[in-house]
Amino acid sequence: MSRIAYVNGRYVTHGDAVVHVEDRGYQFADGVYEVVLVHHGGLVDEEPHLDRLDRSLRELRIDQPMRRAPLRQVMREMIRRNRLGDGMVYIQATRGVARRDHPFPANTRPALVMTARRLGLPALAQTEEGVAVLTIPDIRWARCDIKSVSLLPNVLGKQRAREAGAYEAWQVTTDDFVTEGTSTNAWIVTPAGELVTRHPGNEILSGITRATMIALAAEQGISFVERPFTVAEAKGAREAFVTSATSFLTPVTQIDDVVIGNGKAGSLSVRLLDAYLAHAGSSGPSS
Ligand code: PDD
Repeated sequence: MSRIAYVNGRYVTHGDAVVHVEDRGYQFADGVYEVVLVHHGGLVDEEPHLDRLDRSLRELRIDQPMRRAPLRQVMREMIRRNRLGDGMVYIQATRGVARRDHPFPANTRPALVMTARRLGLPALAQTEEGVAVLTIPDIRWARCDIKSVSLLPNVLGKQRAREAGAYEAWQVTTDDFVTEGTSTNAWIVTPAGELVTRHPGNEILSGITRATMIALAAEQGISFVERPFTVAEAKGAREAFVTSATSFLTPVTQIDDVVIGNGKAGSLSVRLLDAYLAHAGSSGPSS
């Protein structure tokens, strides 16, 4: 069975899915995206993802390429045509195709593409042993709250992490505060047992998995605070982890050359991951 992509109103074979050379996403990174987790054929946290997509479009003054109801339908059709059980749907909307010129083009329709991909649950070794993160300077722009396809600093940061044998890079401000990972939000558990993640603002993407995790922590009676934390505080943390639609909750057991906790996934991280998996499992096949 071949993979199917959705390109501006048509379902096409993935290998034949192309956009115009003058799509502004391609030339200017003038577009936004979403990654939605699919678990057992169901879309996890679909509405908050679509709300964030709308917000990103609004912030960049790109018209909605499609209304919510048909968009939800196309996502389901992508799951069906790709026979997706566990995986992800990628949605990208750009300002559209126009002669290359910096100002917004007049009378250009926004472009919409979607792809789907299989993705397994995180490997047990990763969730038990945890992963390493590297700290790097945050060299991104001042609107990291917009889920823009302009991801070059993130790409460079992730590559640095991989070349250092780490899973993720935590980006750090000039005054030594951790903002977030290159494609994940960053969390710590303090020695006093308090769960901490940075407050939403222009410096981070307000992760959907992050919001779900906060709700799950509240349900479990876990004490939680939203505030910035420094690299030094993270290195002295009892536990650390990252969250995203594709990494779920992944425990962090090493930051640079410092081992976190006892070098294994912490008990609070494991509890929250279990709660998240139960939450994802309750999404059910999409209707
Ligand atoms: N990344 N921060 C950044 C910079 C991200 O790119 C992402 C998601 C997150 C987590 O957001 P969420 O929980 O909504 O997935 C935080 C996606 C998965 C990606 O770029 O592939």
